[in-house]
Amino acid sequence: MTANNLQSQSLSPRIRFGLGRLGPQSKRVHIQHSSGTVNSYSIRLDTEGRIHVAAPDDTGILYACIDLAQRFERGEILPADFNISRSPTFTLRGPAIGMQKTFILPGRKVYEYPYRPDLFPWFYDRSYWSTYLDSLLKNRFNALFLWAGHPFASLVKLPDYPYAQEVDDETFAKNVEMFHHITAECDRRGIWFVQNFYNILLPEGFAKHHGCDTQLAAPTPEAADYTRKSLAAFVKQYPNVGLMVCLGEALQTLDLQKNWCTDVILAGIKDGMAQAGLTDEPPVVIRTHATNARVIMPAALGVYKNLYTEAKYNGESLTTHEPRGVRQALHRDMSALGSTHLINVHILANLEPFRYGAVRFIKKCMQAARERFGASGLHLYPLAFWSWPDAPDSTSPPLKQTERDWIWFEAWARYAWDPYIDDAEDHAYWIDRLTTVFGTKEAAEHILDALNDAGECAPRILRRYGITEGNRQTMSLGMTLDQLVNPARAKPFPELWESQSPPGERLQEYVERELSGRPHEGETPPQINEEVLRFAAIAVDAIDRAEKHVTKHRAEYERIRNDCRCIEAMSQNYVAKVRAAEYVLRYSHTRQVADLEAALIHLRASLQHFRTLEALTRTTYDFANTMQTSQRRVPVPGGFDGQPANYHWSQLLPIYETELREFEKRVELLQQGHLETDDESAIERLPKKSVRLLSPGVELFEANVGARIWHDRPEKIESIAPELAGLNGIRVNSTTGSEIIEVEAPEPMNILVGYVQSADSQWLRVPDLETDAPAAEFVDVEPVIENAVAIRGLPPVHVHVWRAPAGRSTLDLRTRGGFMILGITSQSAEIKRRDAKRGQSVPSPGTPGEG
Ligand code: SER
Repeated sequence: MTANNLQSQSLSPRIRFGLGRLGPQSKRVHIQHSSGTVNSYSIRLDTEGRIHVAAPDDTGILYACIDLAQRFERGEILPADFNISRSPTFTLRGPAIGMQKTFILPGRKVYEYPYRPDLFPWFYDRSYWSTYLDSLLKNRFNALFLWAGHPFASLVKLPDYPYAQEVDDETFAKNVEMFHHITAECDRRGIWFVQNFYNILLPEGFAKHHGCDTQLAAPTPEAADYTRKSLAAFVKQYPNVGLMVCLGEALQTLDLQKNWCTDVILAGIKDGMAQAGLTDEPPVVIRTHATNARVIMPAALGVYKNLYTEAKYNGESLTTHEPRGVRQALHRDMSALGSTHLINVHILANLEPFRYGAVRFIKKCMQAARERFGASGLHLYPLAFWSWPDAPDSTSPPLKQTERDWIWFEAWARYAWDPYIDDAEDHAYWIDRLTTVFGTKEAAEHILDALNDAGECAPRILRRYGITEGNRQTMSLGMTLDQLVNPARAKPFPELWESQSPPGERLQEYVERELSGRPHEGETPPQINEEVLRFAAIAVDAIDRAEKHVTKHRAEYERIRNDCRCIEAMSQNYVAKVRAAEYVLRYSHTRQVADLEAALIHLRASLQHFRTLEALTRTTYDFANTMQTSQRRVPVPGGFDGQPANYHWSQLLPIYETELREFEKRVELLQQGHLETDDESAIERLPKKSVRLLSPGVELFEANVGARIWHDRPEKIESIAPELAGLNGIRVNSTTGSEIIEVEAPEPMNILVGYVQSADSQWLRVPDLETDAPAAEFVDVEPVIENAVAIRGLPPVHVHVWRAPAGRSTLDLRTRGGFMILGITSQSAEIKRRDAKRGQSVPSPGTPGEG
């Protein structure tokens, strides 16, 4: 192909689009297809001044045109010997956009959002797409992932299921039109558009019609037929759109997931291919989340070849460029399958809501993705996923994440293309970019330093002290003293420190080693404390130095400066509180009041730092995190009934103030010589309530000493916490078969369920919110009474709260295993969280699994 036929109709829309960007210069360009890596390209100048572009695919040619256009825009004159070749290290590179909100729709569940203009106005805005997709092209992203729970009911019509359509006809027509528009606009920019969906999720109309839930743990024949037909219709209607499959979180067991994947999803896609006359299999990405991909993939590959895989990089946070352990093994196994394996930089639960521009850290992460994981693709979340496209800053109008977080997107894209760019060249690049934004090279140097150093704090804090890398924890809101002292009570997720962190010691282990004189290994709390304080202080110093050199975008500079201060206050808050926790842990060994007095000093300091953080964020941020509902558990639960709560530092401050007051009281009593005892004489029984049992084979019983707990086993209660003694329990079978219990409650009730603390599969496990977010709607994963009953021959039993609304409801355990129901009480009764010390105390079993 030569310049002579550039205007020819045979040029693909993608090449025409690229040449269009070159303006009149395009007349001098000769284009040739060549061999090489996907999306690679070369450009050279010949002796007559003609530009020769060669690439193996249209996208490579497009990138070459963009490369040239950027050079011409900068006023660059190509030297006579100009001859460059570029080739991406990661072949698939794309951001994700959530069709998700910070709240849950009334009557609906997590992830369930129909595509509607009132919920997602930006989705219907063509100029938004044009600008956004251009920004992706500039960063050479070649994929875009649209995340939703169940998109099909907004995008396809099924003659057999007219009641499944979730939007009115006008909206439906708009959705179809927009989907075609976005796909075509993506294609012009070399972007593969991919639709994500969870399983088994069903439309509201379908669920009502068939009298089932919208989220199923196990398939029904109708759900399977509906889903298969949805997939077929989707492939037929949007043959160029990819699919990304999340086999969980609702769908629970591996066998069911495997069959669902092969017999429903992939079979549906093949039906669609046949209906549309497609011979090439559309690419399908399988997430490793909430399933065991080592089992799923061989089965899926048995029926379908064009599969990609995707697994989270550091869970739902950014913690390390030295990932290891079971998570590394999973990535390596997926990469070894030989198809394209993507790392998913998922929700950034420890970075939000602040800007993150530590390009140094990001570069090392992409190197790790290559070297430690063998990955060949990047799937990147924005920093504020659930509030797309708006940023969390309190500005009017809201800042757009694409603009606020340009450096976040650009850095990941840059290193996905080449994680090994020479450091000096790389530094010069970022200085150039920041100079363009803030006006001077001096400002750029200081701002880059500040971003790099500030970005070292959050990864370290979470990986050493956090409960989980999952979005169940919002790190910038702090942690309670109890969570730092007794993380086991908050159901910690071991992958955080075993996979998503370099080797090192948790605080408890550190204190035990200190007290027993054993040597330390790996990262220690004092080391992390010193590092985060140092990095935070250097960052604040650097950002202050930039001030007098900033000549452009002053307001944004001030926001970055405020972020650096926030990160410093947050780091100081954590360090002080960790020190307080360290003394509390020492006290549990020494019983010296002096240890608690030392803890108090640090606890007061930590509150002071939190006050600073609250003052810095009061008018600058609307919220700390974008997942603001009950799925959020740490430091305190988000809102129930889908309504956001506890998402701002100002809402947390009173909680931390109360925490300090109570600790002061405790120390004061000890100083006055009051001994801490296990005296329970003042503890009153919780209000005794009842429900009507609608399921067969279950009955009420009075939970007292001597009471038998199960129908099918002889065990009796030998000792029970006084707040529970005499409440109405529900006698069930200990074996499988009673997973679903229907009740009718006169008012909202807390059902107090005993979980046997054993890893043995005969016992029910508390759900992992890391892989089962919907479970947060009905069960508290943190025990409310530890060691609540003693039962001979059984391990300890921790009581958790299940919530049953007024009226009829189903307690659906989703997974199998024995459990006991020890009480029913009103939701308005406060249950004091405590350890009742009955039975032998053991640490909570770990929570292996794949997040
Ligand atoms: N935890 C959920 C997932 O991984 C939502 O982020 O899909």
